[in-house]
Amino acid sequence: MKQSINFKLNSKNVTVEVQGDESLLTVIRTYLDETGTKYGCGLGDCGACTVLVNNEVTRSCMTFIEDVANKEIITIEGIGTSTNLHPIQEAFVKTDALQCGFCTPGMIMNAYGLLLKNPNPTREEIITAMDTNLCRCGSYGRIIEAIEKASKQLSKTF
Ligand code: FES
Ligand code: FES
Repeated sequence: MKQSINFKLNSKNVTVEVQGDESLLTVIRTYLDETGTKYGCGLGDCGACTVLVNNEVTRSCMTFIEDVANKEIITIEGIGTSTNLHPIQEAFVKTDALQCGFCTPGMIMNAYGLLLKNPNPTREEIITAMDTNLCRCGSYGRIIEAIEKASKQLSKTF
């Protein structure tokens, strides 16, 4: 049975009429047409679908939409724009931390969640936090470097 579910997506109030067991990923991409968040495995294994739910790093493919009612979701569209990149996005570009780019939104959202909680992570802490996000192009070294750069850049603004 369809339900009316309210939540905040990138600071905007949203209401959707959907089955409660639809995934958050499907709702974001298919019903709300925000396609920055990617569908990779659909099984919670790759991290391509990573978003923040109440500032917690979350696999949107494994999250029922009814479980995010009245919560705050942040996706890649919510942290920067093509003309005003977030420092993490800028660091990814400057460090050449992407090839095909498919994993990049999930990588950036995972890094964003990490830096919210730990603005100055060690390299080991970054590697641990990013360990479950997969990159088929194997850009791991440059991704870690980009997050180190972003963390230094962000700490200057605090
Ligand atoms: S698509 Fe969600 S973890 Fe792979
Ligand atoms: S840049 Fe292609 S999957 Fe990571």
